[in-house]
Amino acid sequence: SFDPESFTSIQTALTQVCTIALREAYPDISVEQTVQPSGKPEYGDYQFNAAMQVAKELKNRGINTNPAEVAKAIVRKLKATRIIEKVATVGGFINIWLAQPFCQNLVMEIVTEGVKPPKLLKRQRVLVDFSSPNVAKQMHVGHLRSTIIGDSIARLFEFLGHEVLRINHVGDWGTQFGMLIAHLQDKFPNYVNELPPIEDLQMFYKESKTRFDSDEEFKKRAYDCVVRLQGHEKDYIKGWQLICDVSRKEFQKIYDQLGISLVERGESFYQSRMESVVKFLRENEHLEMDDGRLIMFGLEKGQIPFTIVKSDGGFTYDTSDMAALRQRIEEEKCDRIIYVVDNGQSGHFRVLFSCAEKCNILDPSKVRTDFVGFGVVLGEDKKKFKTRSGDTVKLQDLLDEGLKRAENTLNSKGRDEVLTPEEFEKAKKAVAFGCIKYADLCNNRMNDYVFSFDKMLDDKGNTAVYMLYMMTRIKSIAANSNVTPAQLAEAAKTEKIPVKHPKEWKLVKTLLRFNDELSKIVDDLCLHHLCEYLYDIATAFSEFYNACYCIERDAKDGQIVKVNMDRLLLCEATARVMEKCFWIIGLTPVSKM
Ligand code: ARG
Repeated sequence: SFDPESFTSIQTALTQVCTIALREAYPDISVEQTVQPSGKPEYGDYQFNAAMQVAKELKNRGINTNPAEVAKAIVRKLKATRIIEKVATVGGFINIWLAQPFCQNLVMEIVTEGVKPPKLLKRQRVLVDFSSPNVAKQMHVGHLRSTIIGDSIARLFEFLGHEVLRINHVGDWGTQFGMLIAHLQDKFPNYVNELPPIEDLQMFYKESKTRFDSDEEFKKRAYDCVVRLQGHEKDYIKGWQLICDVSRKEFQKIYDQLGISLVERGESFYQSRMESVVKFLRENEHLEMDDGRLIMFGLEKGQIPFTIVKSDGGFTYDTSDMAALRQRIEEEKCDRIIYVVDNGQSGHFRVLFSCAEKCNILDPSKVRTDFVGFGVVLGEDKKKFKTRSGDTVKLQDLLDEGLKRAENTLNSKGRDEVLTPEEFEKAKKAVAFGCIKYADLCNNRMNDYVFSFDKMLDDKGNTAVYMLYMMTRIKSIAANSNVTPAQLAEAAKTEKIPVKHPKEWKLVKTLLRFNDELSKIVDDLCLHHLCEYLYDIATAFSEFYNACYCIERDAKDGQIVKVNMDRLLLCEATARVMEKCFWIIGLTPVSKM
């Protein structure tokens, strides 16, 4: 029977109850079906649509029936629970109405105990590989997308109570280090003893690349440097560290501003593990000789192979990902490994998972791997995102522009006059970085997305600015009626969450969708569901607020006549749920805006 202790979400609970009834009515039919939200209010709040499939299955076995009969048979077996108020069938559809007292209690719990994650069936170790820029190269908008999406996915799993490893798989071990170190030796001969003042690492990279491409002598030295670096010669490691440090500081500035934490574990971390994974693959006869290199084919036909060892004996990006995946499964004992990388690399990861399965590093029935791809960032002209002069956009410049634009937006609304300088500064940052994150997350990540500050900073529609405004508005309702948090807490002991008005009831049901939405995202890792959900809450709240007075005032003198505490409690619950969504998205709420 249904165990209320294991309650995780309305959808799962209803699915359990309905599935039990289905099994009782038709013990030898194994149809799996989840309860879905109804499309229209007249069809109840949720629907269970297993009857059509069951009827079809019965027909196949020569038993003549129809979906309507099946639906009725299932309903007859439905046990009464405190979740369901009423059930009705329309043809083969089973429509379900939620019970108000049950929902009132759940929403009250949000007020008294905060938004709690659903009961965890098993705590998992989840690794999120995200951001992952390359040393000495520009951290570009693609990396920004990975950073934002990855952070949000990590936050979701953290909120749910899983153990999350936030891994920055920095590209810090490529052959480009040969030319960088050779150039370092020439430009700063004393680099081992004296910190070289490299200010513009991109410039430094360009200089060394130009020399590499035009100077044969330099090229030879660069190759020699790679060999010595990988042989861990002291001065070479020192040069490599210096260059990584410069990059690291630049990356960190971006992460700090965006409030994102990451553990750096770059490709170099896997050097010895690359050696051992190559040995392992060689011994198990997974490698083939091809034109001097060692390659490995995955399980799928026609797949391009991985290059495991180059003809010069060096390792590749493929090798490092094989070694990293093995480390994550065998050493880290991860249950789930999530890679947040642009769609351009989907092929690479398909081959990676396929090769890893073939050589038994990965058992998909034990470890789940996800490639979380995303589209490219476009300019407002729908072309590749570039500056006016045609250069790639520097991330820091982008964030700076966001701050400036946010400042203008706030000024144009006269906020500079209402807010203290500190409040203004806080609001500015929340708006600037919030809008960049939100604009990225609210689109389906698989699509390309057009980067437009004008659109991001719009205060209408599903934008961060709208959400932040909405939140400050909700928070100000109780404050404006001089109700203190203590009074609200006191009221929570005696009052009930209001559900009489249709808009109250609609808002209550919207708030209780939170867990359903999260479990959807846990599966498809698409954060736009959460932004859409936030928009639904904001809409349901506006409708409620327009239709239902929280505070009643005298028409003549504007004096407060009546404070509807129960409605203020519903406002409070709304703010709590929205705040949790903000947290997962990485949006900082502001007290005043
Ligand atoms: N550094 C790579 C790039 O910028 C992304 C690395 C993604 N993670 C991984 N395990 N391959 O393209």
